[in-house]
Amino acid sequence: MTAINDLVSYEARDGVGVVTIDSPPVNALSQGVRAGIKGGIEAGVADNNVSAIVLTCAGRTFIAGADITEFGKPPTEPGLKEVIGIIEASNKPVIAAIHGTALGGGLETALGCHYRVAVASAKVGLPEVKLGLLPGAGGTQRLPRVVGVPIALDLITSGEHVPAPKAHKLGLIDELVDGDLVDGAIAFAKKIVAEGRPLVKISDQNDKIEEAKKTPGLFDEFRKKNARRFRGFEAPENCIKSIEAAVNLPFDEGLVRERELFSELLAGEQAKAQQYFFFSERQAAKIPDVPKDTPLIDIKSAGVIGAGTMGGGIAMNFLQAGIPVIIVETSQEALDRGIEIIKKNYAATVSKGRLSQEKMDKYLSLLTGTTQLEDIKDVDIVIEAIFENMEVKKEIFGKLDKICKQGAILATNTSTLDIDEIGAATTRPEYVIGLHFFSPANVMKLLEEVRTQKTSASVMATCMALAKKIGKVPVMVRVCEGFTGNRMLAKRTDQAQKLILEGAKIEDVDRVLYDFGFPMGPFAMGDLAGNDVSWRIRQGKGVKSPVADAICELGRFGQKTGAGYYRYEAGSRTPQPDPVVEEIIEKAAKEAGVTRRKITDEEILKRCIYPMINEAAKILEEGMATRASDIDVIWVYGYGWPIYRGGPTRYADHIGVENIYNDMLRFKSALGGEEWTPAPLLEKLAKEKKGFKDL
Ligand code: 3HC
Repeated sequence: MTAINDLVSYEARDGVGVVTIDSPPVNALSQGVRAGIKGGIEAGVADNNVSAIVLTCAGRTFIAGADITEFGKPPTEPGLKEVIGIIEASNKPVIAAIHGTALGGGLETALGCHYRVAVASAKVGLPEVKLGLLPGAGGTQRLPRVVGVPIALDLITSGEHVPAPKAHKLGLIDELVDGDLVDGAIAFAKKIVAEGRPLVKISDQNDKIEEAKKTPGLFDEFRKKNARRFRGFEAPENCIKSIEAAVNLPFDEGLVRERELFSELLAGEQAKAQQYFFFSERQAAKIPDVPKDTPLIDIKSAGVIGAGTMGGGIAMNFLQAGIPVIIVETSQEALDRGIEIIKKNYAATVSKGRLSQEKMDKYLSLLTGTTQLEDIKDVDIVIEAIFENMEVKKEIFGKLDKICKQGAILATNTSTLDIDEIGAATTRPEYVIGLHFFSPANVMKLLEEVRTQKTSASVMATCMALAKKIGKVPVMVRVCEGFTGNRMLAKRTDQAQKLILEGAKIEDVDRVLYDFGFPMGPFAMGDLAGNDVSWRIRQGKGVKSPVADAICELGRFGQKTGAGYYRYEAGSRTPQPDPVVEEIIEKAAKEAGVTRRKITDEEILKRCIYPMINEAAKILEEGMATRASDIDVIWVYGYGWPIYRGGPTRYADHIGVENIYNDMLRFKSALGGEEWTPAPLLEKLAKEKKGFKDL
């Protein structure tokens, strides 16, 4: 074995040159890896003892893409396009041997090879769009030449990871290898040499391009069909334009166009925000005072208390991860109803073709229902998901303490209550933790995990790992009113209510936030979730909100009652402005002595967003969240904050904390109200001309 450099080696095996990249953790295409591949291929071409070259990777994966940490830095030689050009121009066949994930620049490198083999567990894809980019090393030009334009459009604008067997069917992979990958790749290389198979250069293949030319409306149709999905994002449009260039221009010119469109995105704020978010999500998995080697509790079974919407959704996550669940209800009727809803949810997914009947049956076979709390005595984790009432929860946790085996984790899905107090109802508070799922719990990716003063490191580490296992993104926070997410949301809700009282139209507030990038505005969201939920919470706390209360007093709970802040035609989910609500607001304004005025879109946006950012500063000051970027992960995955704006604190840095601070002071003098007093941390950052990123 010869070292080409620190990261890449070369050896001749059985008449085939094997170039191996070994750059943990994911063999990203750093300068050293690029230089090493170039050197390795050149060594293979020059080696008279070999007739073909295999390009493979050590460790857990094939090349997972460009090295994202190099983006924004001055480019270094050799560029990836040059390296791929050298591979494609090799006079000996080059075969990519793929395991793990061949992503982005990794798949582009493989597409520069003349053949590709993979183990069945491998996945390939061009996920650049998720980083606000497009495949910038020939991916938009080569992929359509292999799989055809319609499929390339889908894959490149979705960033989907395609499992190797499907990639094989699409012609992206030439052969699936059983057993040792490198041995299989060498055998494949020898076979193609023996059969005299050609050096397949994808850049020369134009059949699929010619085929696409026959359907000129293809691109506009695709744009139209996906307009909703692409709303607000810049990258998908550039991906489409680049694939259009593959159809309309010769290969080399297409490459130039691809580079222009890539550079345009790379320089933009969206790509920077999305790359920031990529690292933020990974950072959130780390808890500073919980060492990496903390022993984990083995979670082989779960108990869920409450078969309502939340409990059912939570149970589904575990079933899908292969973890048996016992679901507990107080009456047989409520239990049957809850289980029936789970079944219906799965059946609906089956009927849409997104789940096989076999899998549904498997999931349901892992589900048991009971009305006896004692039946969950042996489970490894319990998640309580009943209505928000401290006394009832304390009683349940007291019982769980007596019933559950030692070492079991006792979790609550509360979104409002003091979990330290709940923990104190047991003799093992170190095993008590908050696992705050977001509705619908089987869909939303966020899991806000809430540690108490006593939660043990092992329980935290286990719950972080468990979240990943059930397909969630976990963020650990501490106990405070509303925890991190809802505490900030409350500030937005408060302003939205004040804005409509002062003269903004409900639909204007919703439109401004929708245009900002949220899936819907706060009033449409209230109508969807049910306005009665927050009404009951307010009643419990003795808090008033004139318009929101008046709406609920009329039974306008939202979509489920056909009316809320909007009205809904029978069977429709489309919100229609309702003059009745306008009258309610006018009356409430008069009673509160508020003079109504016209409010600009700019004011609506700033008033909804800035108090949230101010609250984020307080949360960080108090140590309730670990890092600013954790707050961003919570808002993107839990509340639909547009990922291309990175999250509230990233957005604050983009606008400039100083500008936000100055606006806060202006609002304070114009409107009054404690919410406009800048948090000390916000003030400090503003005065030092710093951002949340500097914390
Ligand atoms: N560049 C730099 N670092 C990367 C990286 C990349 N492309 N991909 C992953 N990493 C780092 C992660 O930040 C993480 O670092 P940490 O341990 O310090 O937190 C470490 O590698 C391991 O990553 P994960 O925790 O994500 O490991 P998983 O096993 O869960 O997932 C993966 C592996 C599926 C490869 C996932 O990391 C991933 O999706 N990576 C990004 C893939 C991607 O987007 N590639 C396209 C890059 S852009 C490009 O190629 C442009 C080209 O067209 C010119």
